[in-house]
Amino acid sequence: MSNDTAFTPAAGRPEWTPFYDFAIAVLTRERRWRGALLRQTAPVPGDQILDVGCGTGTFAVMLKRAEPRAHVVGLDPDADVLTRARAKAAKADAEMAFRQGFARDADAEAARFTKVVSSLVFHQVPMDEKRAGLASMWRALRAGGTLHVADYGLQRTPLMRAAFRQIQKLDGFDNTEPNARGVLPELMREVGFTAVEETEVIATVTGSISLYRALRPDA
Ligand SMILES: C[S@@+](CC[C@H](N)C(=O)[O-])C[C@H]1O[C@@H](n2cnc3c(N)ncnc32)[C@H](O)[C@@H]1O
Repeated sequence: MSNDTAFTPAAGRPEWTPFYDFAIAVLTRERRWRGALLRQTAPVPGDQILDVGCGTGTFAVMLKRAEPRAHVVGLDPDADVLTRARAKAAKADAEMAFRQGFARDADAEAARFTKVVSSLVFHQVPMDEKRAGLASMWRALRAGGTLHVADYGLQRTPLMRAAFRQIQKLDGFDNTEPNARGVLPELMREVGFTAVEETEVIATVTGSISLYRALRPDA
């Protein structure tokens, strides 16, 4: 894991982590966007999938349940949230690995993964980590591998902008504002991804969540 150990925990404050799953269910239309992200990721037998900022492991478990013959690895800097993720996976009888680390540590096993996924992570990390994280995720993918991201993205209407202020109060303006201005696809292209697409925009009471897909092209 990288030396800089500062990060925003799942629910904004460490003492709120036990309430994270409940808050996400209530405040983000969770079934809607997680279902869309799962359909987009479309795990197949033999896939090697890395979930960056896996949090309590909900999406990693969904991936494994959808395709038990896929190999799933969860990565997160927070030891507490990883304990919760391991417990959730064990309860679901979903065999997978969890590693402690930041998005910028995704390439610890370079060119290993066929798919890299991430949900609700980049809006709460600083600009330099957004860039370094996406670059590392590019290197973690095999040529021809795909990136699948769900996160608060460009807030297109005054209503969604106003709704997103709740997240900005919780996670800080400096980290969240670039997402609200639509920076993620630009950064994906900057670090080398091609075929970058915003595939869906889902309105929620905390702002709109965008789904993105991108490709690490063959050399
Ligand atoms: C809002 S939670 C999302 C968790 C999970 N992906 C989900 O869909 O529920 C954000 C997660 O990102 C992790 N995180 C924060 N900074 C990070 C970074 N720089 N790199 C990777 N993960 C980070 C936090 O520890 C937290 O678990």
